[in-house]
Amino acid sequence: MIDLNRVSRTYSGARPVHALRDVDLSIGAGEYVAIMGPSGSGKSTLMNVMGCLDRPTAGRYLLQGQEVSAMRPPQLADVRNRMVGFVFQTFNLLPRHTAAQNVELPLVYRGMPGAERRRRVREVLERIGLTEWSTHRPSQLSGGQQQRVAIARALVGRPSFLLADEPTGNLDSRSGQEVMVLFEELNRDGTAVVLVTHDERIAAHASRTIRLFDGRIVSDQPNPSPLDAREQLARFTEQAAASGSGGGDGS
Ligand SMILES: Nc1ncnc2c1ncn2[C@@H]1O[C@H](COP(=O)(O)OP(=O)(O)OP(=O)(O)O)[C@@H](O)[C@H]1O
Ligand SMILES: [Mg+2]
Repeated sequence: MIDLNRVSRTYSGARPVHALRDVDLSIGAGEYVAIMGPSGSGKSTLMNVMGCLDRPTAGRYLLQGQEVSAMRPPQLADVRNRMVGFVFQTFNLLPRHTAAQNVELPLVYRGMPGAERRRRVREVLERIGLTEWSTHRPSQLSGGQQQRVAIARALVGRPSFLLADEPTGNLDSRSGQEVMVLFEELNRDGTAVVLVTHDERIAAHASRTIRLFDGRIVSDQPNPSPLDAREQLARFTEQAAASGSGGGDGS
């Protein structure tokens, strides 16, 4: 589905930065991939290229057979809107909009009629377990709930793949684990998930780990026994109960 062929991304400036160098990478439909690497190694740049937020400066990018590297910005935006769901470390929700309005936004951009938009929003909020929070604004939600709103927004357009750049970076460990359960369910339903993380325990849920260093892929390995997110969450709850701590608000 994702096919990068000797892709490079250089940021021009007084001193050009080679954020990606000759990256060859294929990710198939329904995969679950973790991307790791030190700060500045090019992880976000790679996610932005794969998610059509940015274009390579050299090389070819084919997304489901379409040559993204040759597309102009309006076409790129259209492909992104239809195929990609993005989740960021900082949630990136609009503060004056309710949870439901935030989730609805990508469908508004797509020009979908109101009734169908509202039906889809209701469906996805229910799936993510946020129905009772739909009229809350981001500031009235916990970090974990805000991230779930962001995930609902990424999913409402039914993308073929979900790109998450450090999605658990700003969450307490329990909320982070809940996000991982959600990703696992989505992946089981056929959505490809690609996530960037600094945390080996988070990466251990994926069935493939790619490591970047200095803009290059230095390792790409299958994980034959990925961690089961639901089991981890249950263990987490047990430990919290045993130590007498609530382990976060849990919702
Ligand atoms: N818009 C930009 N303009 C110029 N240089 C940039 C830009 N974005 C990123 N870079 C540079 O490209 C390199 C890769 O950055 P990138 O954000 O992809 O790293 P990262 O692996 O995501 O790091 P982190 O773990 O800190 O998020 C870095 O040297 C960074 O300074
Ligand atoms: Mg980054």
